Amino acid sequence: MAALGEISLSNLNGGQKLAVKYYAMAGVLFAAQILFGLLAGLQYLMPDFLFGQLDFSINRMVHINALVVWLLCGFIGSVYWMLEEEAQRPVVGLKLGNLVFWAFAAAVTIVVIVYLLVQTGRGEVATIWLITEGREYIEAPRWADIAIVASVLVFFYNVAGTFAKGRYTGIAGVLVLDLIALFGLYLAGMFFTPNVSIDQFWWWWVIHLWVEATWEVLVGCILAYALIKTLGARREIVETWLYVEVALMFGSGILGLGHHYFWIGTPDYWLSIGGFFSALEPIPLVAMVVHAVYDSGTHKMQNNNHPAFAWIIAAAFGNFLGAGVWGFMHTLPQINLFTHGTQWTASHGHLAFFGAFATVNIAFFYLAMQKLRGEVWMGAGLPDRGWKWKWSFALLNIGMLGMTVALLVAGYVQSQIERAIGGSSWSAYFDAQAHPWFQQGMWWREVFGVVILIGVVLLAWDLLTVGRRETRVIQTLEPA
Ligand code: HEM
Ligand code: HEM
Ligand SMILES: [Fe+2]
Repeated sequence: MAALGEISLSNLNGGQKLAVKYYAMAGVLFAAQILFGLLAGLQYLMPDFLFGQLDFSINRMVHINALVVWLLCGFIGSVYWMLEEEAQRPVVGLKLGNLVFWAFAAAVTIVVIVYLLVQTGRGEVATIWLITEGREYIEAPRWADIAIVASVLVFFYNVAGTFAKGRYTGIAGVLVLDLIALFGLYLAGMFFTPNVSIDQFWWWWVIHLWVEATWEVLVGCILAYALIKTLGARREIVETWLYVEVALMFGSGILGLGHHYFWIGTPDYWLSIGGFFSALEPIPLVAMVVHAVYDSGTHKMQNNNHPAFAWIIAAAFGNFLGAGVWGFMHTLPQINLFTHGTQWTASHGHLAFFGAFATVNIAFFYLAMQKLRGEVWMGAGLPDRGWKWKWSFALLNIGMLGMTVALLVAGYVQSQIERAIGGSSWSAYFDAQAHPWFQQGMWWREVFGVVILIGVVLLAWDLLTVGRRETRVIQTLEPA
């Protein structure tokens, strides 16, 4: 047994050891995401910068694909993290799960190297198979798609098999069903059709139904577990909320899909369906805030891991603001007609992804570090008053909010000048791009991007040092 306060894998169960590998990969990709985002943002300000060597299209692609993959790695890690404790038995087929991790890491590396080496060229069937499928957010070529599907099947076997043989909790039930939906949907983004409307129609099944339905439910499950861990929240309460949220989320999220069908060549009825149901989508997100705050209130904030818990609260509010409020702002077709595809969309995309998902993963990184050091105390009274986690928390959240507002101002200019006044003409597009407020928005985005970068560096430093040589140990909080 390693000394208390020292990092040691021997403190973890089998599933958790694998989780740590996924977390490490998530961390690397998170850093890559930020660097490529800064490059893409810089190219807005200096269009010639790296032109022909590292094009904007590539930086943007790596930025958002790294985003999707690091969040997925974090989620997969978190599921492995809680699996043995929830099921109360070792993971079924763990060896295979470990093997798949390495295959997955190798595939991601090759895909990114190919993106960087082959930046331009002809679009042929071979391109789809070997280089990129060209579908925003899930651009991986088809060979990698197939590898991903195979990996995911193994992951699913690990999870469902373990729960089937062990304790099958409420969280487990929701999680297993959700994973079927989550990975089943991925297939909708794998086939090719030359008709761009049809292609987009199915592509949204992955993108929208992922983030607004299956990912939301997944974070609901892992947050339920985290609340039990950090606060000792009562399982019945957490699971009841989970059922309510799942019902609401699927209810509004599935038909809310229609808000992406307004202008892509689908029938007109999507205007009413999408407008109505997506307007209901913030309701489950409000429920999530109430849930987390209620739980913290009833336990008088007596928690054993302050950084993790702060990020859980950030997730509740971030989800509500980024997805709920920022989503609602442009979801009615009457408004979306003007805002569609402007920086307004990017504003929402940044705050929603960060607020709803990045936050949850960061919370789990802190839970993992705590256990790696032997369940040390990370609640009140951290050495140095925990300045590192507090500053990185502040820098990351302020950086993201600042960026969001900068993009929103730029988006307003586009909606007003390009759409409302200029009637979406070609020249109106450039009028908006040349407007000082748009250009200042692009500068502020980059400034706040640097704030985020500093926050990420501090976060990495804190994760590697928090709880070092701590001698106080936590009391087990889970009720019997
Ligand atoms: C965590 C949940 C969510 C995430 C991560 C998310 C993320 C995104 C992203 C990245 C886009 C841009 C897609 C593109 O490249 O075209 C987008 C578009 C959009 N989102 Fe969300 N979103 C979430 C929830 C919501 C909710 C709850 C609503 C409505 C209440 C909403 C309304 C919209 C609308 C209307 C668009 C289309 C914007 C346009 O026309 O350009 N989103 N979302
Ligand atoms: C240093 C910080 C960052 C910078 C400078 C940055 C910059 C950018 C840039 C320049 C784009 C392309 C926008 C366009 O095509 O007009 C972009 C897209 C995007 N970024 Fe970031 N980003 C940063 C951090 C993040 C973070 C932390 C997240 C989420 C957790 C994120 C999520 C996204 C998403 C979802 C898109 C696609 C948005 C859309 O198409 O509407 N970014 N980012
Ligand atoms: Fe959506």
